[in-house]
Amino acid sequence: MRRGRLLVQFLYLLLLCCDDPIVAWAAEAFIGTYGINYGRIADNIPSPDKVVTLLRAAKIRNVRIYDADHTVLKAFSGTGLDLVVGLPNGNLKDVNASEDNALDWVKDNVQSFLPDTRIRGIAVGNEVLGGSSNELGGVLLGAVKNVYSALQKLNLDKVVQITTAHSTAVLADSYPPSSCKFNDNVDQYMKPLLEFFQEIGSPFCLNAYPFLAYLSDPGNIDVNYALFQKTQGIYDQKNDVHYDNMLDAIIDATYVALEDAGFKKMEVIVTETGWASKGDSNEAAATVDNARTYNYNLRKRLALRKGTPLRPKHALKAYIFALFNEDQKPGPTSERNFGLFKPDGSLAYDIGFPALKSSSATSLRGSLKVIRARACIGSNVVVHVASIIILILFSRF
Ligand SMILES: *[C@@H]1O[C@H](CO)[C@@H](O)[C@H](O)[C@H]1NC(C)=O
Repeated sequence: MRRGRLLVQFLYLLLLCCDDPIVAWAAEAFIGTYGINYGRIADNIPSPDKVVTLLRAAKIRNVRIYDADHTVLKAFSGTGLDLVVGLPNGNLKDVNASEDNALDWVKDNVQSFLPDTRIRGIAVGNEVLGGSSNELGGVLLGAVKNVYSALQKLNLDKVVQITTAHSTAVLADSYPPSSCKFNDNVDQYMKPLLEFFQEIGSPFCLNAYPFLAYLSDPGNIDVNYALFQKTQGIYDQKNDVHYDNMLDAIIDATYVALEDAGFKKMEVIVTETGWASKGDSNEAAATVDNARTYNYNLRKRLALRKGTPLRPKHALKAYIFALFNEDQKPGPTSERNFGLFKPDGSLAYDIGFPALKSSSATSLRGSLKVIRARACIGSNVVVHVASIIILILFSRF
């Protein structure tokens, strides 16, 4: 009986710990599997405090922004939302040039908002490598290192994680996934960058768009494969694995490239993925139906907390692109129509999130409290029921 009771206490403690895992060795920006990009290249989207209401009602906790806008950082204060801020490409030269510049940037845009605003990551530059010029390739690593030194000086290196997001242009030969490697023209920058990220425990961040892959070759790609719908999928003979959707295949291709470069243990997370609901005449796949299907199925895929065929233990994590349609973005019509929400806060299409209703913001807040109270009671009930079951089991001894 005594042994039984000790075991019960041990298991009870274990349950409590599982509730709130503590990663002591490195910062981890993305807890959970579903996040969202809050892009703001628009003149008609709701104010940051309304966005907070929207995100909390949708129970989306992980958020990325592309800069460190102070009105956004203030609005996120005290909300419990986990935020990744961006150090824009335009600042990279400056931050590479001196540790003091990096320190100033981190003090102004990160440290002064902690801990009330939960800034959990800094994305240093966006899609710097693999473009037509690689112009900033030579300053990216220097900037990353200077930002890391700044975090160390401020004793924030265990709180705030440093990453940089890559586009799939850094990959070559990604079909079939088993043949993938990094593009020759990024190799010289990629390897030293990955060595540093491996040292500090940061993941590989990929912006991955089956939408764009499909648009580039609609004759040879089954749209259902890109949309997570029923399809025969592809078989990768060399690794003897089957893919039933394109996103999994792109991620495994990235794992193959990482392994080829000597970084077998590095995790891949998706920092952008999405599907446009409207496009130009040469973007026929950009429809409300397809966007809804992609984002609905993606949400289900992420909720499974499953890995990919090559890395079954790394639950897939992705930030959706994007929260709102952004009317001021340049480029093709699709670029302005990736939002789950329209600028007025109504749904672009329904995948199960509540809309932001401007007149009922207060009632939304009220119902939020109820939801949170319920969630709290819920998890306590689980723990207590579990311990009672264990008690019953062990009291037999
Ligand atoms: C990046 O910073 C280093 C160290 O200060 C400097 O030597 C180098 O010239 C910088 N690179 C560019 C392209 O500015």
